[in-house]
Amino acid sequence: MPEALQLEERQACPLDAFRADVFAGLSRRQKALPSRWLYDARGSELFEAITKLDEYYLTRTETAILNLNAREIAAFCGRDTVLLEYGAGAGLKTEILLNALESPRLYVPIDLAADFLQQTVMRMGDGFPLLEIRPLIADFNTDFEIPTTVPARRRTAFFPGSTIGNLDEAETLLFLRRVRKQVGPQGNALIGIDLKKDVSTLLAAYDDRLKITAAFNLNLLARINRELRADFRLHLFAHEARWNRLESGIEMHLVSRVAHMVRIEDRTFHFASGETIHTESSRKYDVAAFADLVRAEDWRVGAIWTDSEKRFAIFGLKA
Ligand code: AVJ
Repeated sequence: MPEALQLEERQACPLDAFRADVFAGLSRRQKALPSRWLYDARGSELFEAITKLDEYYLTRTETAILNLNAREIAAFCGRDTVLLEYGAGAGLKTEILLNALESPRLYVPIDLAADFLQQTVMRMGDGFPLLEIRPLIADFNTDFEIPTTVPARRRTAFFPGSTIGNLDEAETLLFLRRVRKQVGPQGNALIGIDLKKDVSTLLAAYDDRLKITAAFNLNLLARINRELRADFRLHLFAHEARWNRLESGIEMHLVSRVAHMVRIEDRTFHFASGETIHTESSRKYDVAAFADLVRAEDWRVGAIWTDSEKRFAIFGLKA
């Protein structure tokens, strides 16, 4: 994967970025860590396990929507499309889409994690031996350029999984604007959105009986221990899922069970009993509210595919 490796060398050291985020986030009044750091190798494994849980309806519902509407979605994208996937590794969903597309011209998985991208390239290369794949290492939450070697016409942006729900409102608008610029005036986007529903269903999806989501959340502390030589004692923290009505989102927190201190490299952080680290927000939308958001960034809603229970939606957008 020479092109991606080359790009990786131009990128600032990820460990420095991680350290800076951890120090800044744990210095805030409401301690918080950016959710993208949840996905190290172990975190990605745990997330895979989450997607198979009874309570976590999102992946299974979105996959069913894709399967049932594959032909229509492919027609929406058009023939010879260049597929840009924001956050690689949606695996099965991407395969469903690629299988349905008429002569896709190129697949560009975009992800911050080089090792994850490499896995995606290998897996997709097996399944689609004649498809050209050009991985791109980038953080889709920052401004980045699509290389000029990627054909500019007939681009489709694919952002499944309701990953867009992890962005706050300002980031969401910026993301929609950036993607619109990146696909160009004739471009399309397919965006997966988790829809608002009763709070007990939402809370269960983020606090499962098998405690896999708890392990996923706590793994962030294990990662800090490993990569930044910290001494978090994981049993002193409890996983909590909360519904934030004003933000219309589920939040994951790590709640300190007792007052204690944690050492990270040469710094000390204090935790009061009951104090939390906010590790993720996962916004839930009404169809109308999301449509308003995309229109504010000059997108046209071309189609909305959803399931019979209106749990999840895939928006088809036209630039
Ligand atoms: C992959 C980011 C969409 O927010 O539902 C799953 C991550 N967090 N369980 C989500 C997640 C806790 C997931 N996204």
